[in-house]
Order: sequence, then structure tokens, then C-alpha cells
Amino acid sequence: MNHHPTRALSLAFLFIAPWEDAVMTPAELTEEVLAAYAGTPDPRLRELFAALIEHLHAFAVQTRLTPAEWLAAVEFLTATGQKCDAERQEFILLSDVLGLSSLVDIVNAADGATESTVLGPFYVPGAPERAMGEQIGRPADGEPTLIRGRVTGLSGDPLVGATLDVWQCSSNGLYDTQDPGQPPFNLRGMFVTGPDGRYEFRAVRPVSYPIPVDGPVGDLLRGAARQHWRAAHIHAIVSAPGCRSVTTHIFDASNPYLDSDAVFGVKDSLVREFRPPQPGDPADVRYVADMDFTLAPDEDRRPAPVSS
Ligand code: BEZ
Ligand code: FE
Repeated sequence: MNHHPTRALSLAFLFIAPWEDAVMTPAELTEEVLAAYAGTPDPRLRELFAALIEHLHAFAVQTRLTPAEWLAAVEFLTATGQKCDAERQEFILLSDVLGLSSLVDIVNAADGATESTVLGPFYVPGAPERAMGEQIGRPADGEPTLIRGRVTGLSGDPLVGATLDVWQCSSNGLYDTQDPGQPPFNLRGMFVTGPDGRYEFRAVRPVSYPIPVDGPVGDLLRGAARQHWRAAHIHAIVSAPGCRSVTTHIFDASNPYLDSDAVFGVKDSLVREFRPPQPGDPADVRYVADMDFTLAPDEDRRPAPVSS
């Protein structure tokens, strides 16, 4: 006879059907979801799904995410999508203010090349090709500034026929696409390097400006008590045949937002002094900034290795 209470309990436990006592653990659910996606045919997509599921599940477990918080996140993402149209990409802005855009740049950086940074929502393809040294804006746009330098490969050899697609906002903090007072393609231009790889153009000294905060991303920044200004910069996409293009900025070293840029775009290697012209420099500008660009070979365009 066995009247010991604990032993009787454990015997009863043996007769309970497994599905009645089984409380699913987070780890079991994560395993089940991972297994459901393990048959994804494309190997890269399979890898991305697996990592996404692991990190999303770990986030919910670590934070003990509540149903109300989950719903608030769904509503926030819905509002983010609803804010998007042909001109406005609120999801990219969200990626920018969370540092994801900059992280993707860093993860994909080519060794020795100029560092890249965010493209931003104000790029317009098709800027007019301009003569070397030409002013990209109007006198009213700000303080005349010469930007100049060289475009080279990794070994320092000049890149001939490299293109610099540059754009910036006016001193009122607005790009041409935001400001009916500016003509189309104001403060934009395309420059092509000659045999010495050199370029120069006249711009205006860049100013800080606020990123758009009239949508869900603005709510997020206010909720986090974060500032919403970009450090003053000029944009450039630098490309050359056979090279990997770099989407980057030239930042003004004296700008107060270098350490708190709303979109985490600042990299030390992209910060330059905007200094008054010295003897020998053109006299028609108030500032000069020197910026060289280095491009890495485009791995994808290398000829396939010849098999022996
Ligand atoms: C910009 O520099 O144009 C920009 C980049 C990211 C978000 C908003 C603006
Ligand atoms: Fe910008």
C-alpha cells in the first residue's frame, strides 16, 4: 500500500494525457515557427527568415511584450504605411531614425573606400550635367562655397569619367522639391571628372534642417525626446565605370548637430572644415572645403575567374 501523498501525486501525473499538461514555452513556439520556415527554397531568404524570427521572438520574450503594446506597434506601422505616397517614404525615414539605414551602410562598407551614408528622401535622379566649377544654385541660396577634390581608386590612381551627382538644400533649410520658390534642380548637379580625377563645384555653405516630423516618425521622435535636426551636409553619389558607387555626404565640421544627427548619418571621415579662401584660392567664394573620394572596384562586375 502506498499512501505517501507525494508519490500518489506523481502517479496521477503519469495518467494525465500529455496534451493536457503541456503548456507551450516560448522556446518551443520559436522552434516550431523556425521549422515552418526551414523549407524556404531560396537559401538567402531562408537565412533572413530564420534570423528575423529568432530576433523578433527574443525581443517579445525579453521585453515581455503585452498584447496592448503589440497592437500599438501594429497601429504605428499601419500609420507609417498610410503616410507613404509617391513623394513621401515614411518607412525609410523610420529606418533612418532607428539607425537601421546607417547600419546597413556600415555592414556593407568596402574596405578603403569613402564611407557611405543615408541617401535621404530628397534625391532626384536626372540632375543636369554642369561644367567643372559651376555654381549649382542661385546667389540667394546662401554663402558661396567651393567644394573640390579628387576621385581615385583604392591605390590612389585618378578615376577618369567619374560622376558626382550632388544636391543640397537652400539656406532656408528646404530642398527644391519642398519649396515652390526654387526652380526644379536648383542646388543639384552632375559633374564628370577629367584625366586627373579632379572635380570642383560651387555650392552654398550647408545649413542644418529638420527632417519631416508631421507623421508617425515625428511621434516616435517626440516619444523618445529626441531632436529632429540633421547635421549640415552636402549630398554626393560618386560613381565610376567598374567601381562600386558611394552614396555619401560632406559634413560641416562646425555644425552643432554632428553628435546628435537625427538619422545617425555622421561619420568622422566625412567631416570637413569649411574655411575662408586662402591665397591662390578663387576669390568669388566665402568658403572652401576639400573632399577626396575613394572608390572600390565593383566586385560584381569583375570577370568570373577562369577555371583551369
Ligand atoms: C537628407 O539628408 O536629405 C535626409 C536623410 C534622411 C532623412 C531625412 C532627410
Ligand atoms: Fe539632406
